[in-house]
Amino acid sequence: MNGGIEITELTALLALASIALFVVGLKRLSKVRTSRTGNALMASGMLVAVVITLVEIGLVDYRWIVTGLVIGGGLGVLIVVRARATQMPEIVARFNGFGGAASALVALSLFWLEVVEAPGEATAATVLGGTAAVTLVLSVLIGATTLSGSILAELKLRGTLEASQRIPMRTVLMGLAALGGAAMGFVATFGVEDPGTAAGLIIGLAAASLLVGLILVLPIGGADMPVVISLLNSLSGLAAAATGFALNNHLLIIAGTVVGAAGLILTQIMCVAMNRSLINVIAGGYGEGGDVEHGEYGTVISTDPESAAMVLEAAQSVIIVPGYGLAAARAQNAAHDLAQALIDRGASVRFAIHPVAGRMPGHMNVVLAEAEVPYELLSEMDEINPEFSQTDVAIVVGANDVVNPAAKEQPDSPIGGMPILDVEQARRVFVIKRSLSPGYAGIKNDLFERENTVMLYGDAKEMLTELANELEAVR
Ligand code: TAP
Repeated sequence: MNGGIEITELTALLALASIALFVVGLKRLSKVRTSRTGNALMASGMLVAVVITLVEIGLVDYRWIVTGLVIGGGLGVLIVVRARATQMPEIVARFNGFGGAASALVALSLFWLEVVEAPGEATAATVLGGTAAVTLVLSVLIGATTLSGSILAELKLRGTLEASQRIPMRTVLMGLAALGGAAMGFVATFGVEDPGTAAGLIIGLAAASLLVGLILVLPIGGADMPVVISLLNSLSGLAAAATGFALNNHLLIIAGTVVGAAGLILTQIMCVAMNRSLINVIAGGYGEGGDVEHGEYGTVISTDPESAAMVLEAAQSVIIVPGYGLAAARAQNAAHDLAQALIDRGASVRFAIHPVAGRMPGHMNVVLAEAEVPYELLSEMDEINPEFSQTDVAIVVGANDVVNPAAKEQPDSPIGGMPILDVEQARRVFVIKRSLSPGYAGIKNDLFERENTVMLYGDAKEMLTELANELEAVR
């Protein structure tokens, strides 16, 4: 047994360990309680994978690798350290885009090294093999689409770009760009021996793929954004898996497939949560806004924390419904304290979690876990919906679209068909928000006009703190 074989065996074992860390980590990510260790396990798996890859590609000048690690790692730390918690969804979108870009760039550099700059003239399929050539094209196509789509998603989440913008003949244009790009890619890899022509065509593929991402995401808004974000997450994994095939790197194939599959499952969960089909979202059948009715409000009743606390004082059962505004106001600790004050008075308290509340999958679970709200108090939509009709008070905190009855009552609404939390069935509904401004979908919410609804205008954190103080005062 020589030294080379030992290293190969060691890297194979480490690769297995890395894969095991990915799989176990992913399993633990599926529960809030175990998600922190799941995240740490997956990060360790990635570290092992990076070390193995560095050992395997020992030919590359380590100065380049260190430079890349320092710049990339430094940027990552800078972005996350400077970000406010409310910017997390935008950052997740950006990281999806970076994942796609990395895969596409690796595939492009492989093409450059082995085909464009290589001595002699031969097609990429001859040099790399048919499978590698096909997956290289897929990697550029999916990776560049993910990059441009994620940039737009980030701008939309940040509010820099309007939620949905129409593109005439969108599906046809997107199909043409995707087919045109794929055709250029396959001619570049299977049909051309001249390096200059091949280089031009592969750049054409990258440009067409960027266009696909733009056309895909630009018109999507409102209720369909969660689906798009999880789809982009999945695409970033699939692009990495395709690059793994092109490079014949098993770890990348497995890591990419794990991300791609998890993202697809999440996309499916989001589709069910929004009552959308993926085809409808991609083809733009929903969520393009249509003639969005911002609407004027009729009679809306409001009150102050003191009067609201008197109602809460007598309540036996309370359901708190958190939404994006709770995260924006960083009101999770205040929500925890109010829940505790109610429990101390003998009331039963639950938190109702809508799958797309907030701006990223699991957003409410993350912020409530940060405030150490016990997991037992959290209930999913299907589980809690039948309970509202037997509940004394529902307190809606910075949620809007996820409690908007228009989803059930107006099929043409941008959120039409989306299952919502049935808060209007509670005996009394308090809605905490700063004004009558709409939520992400930009539409009027009839809940605010209902007879059993009372508005508590103000910042979520301040209002919840005042409610808890008032309750404490009457103890
Ligand atoms: P939204 O419908 O966006 O409503 C949030 C409400 O919070 C706003 O109406 C706003 O009203 C209020 N608010 C903002 N800051 C506040 C503060 N400091 N204090 C109190 N209230 C505050 O939120 P939602 O009900 O959670 O629904 C989520 C929406 O985002 C859905 O349409 C969903 O499709 C979309 N979306 C979700 C995701 C994922 S994956 N979860 C991703 C992208 C988009 P005021 O301005 O009047 O205070």
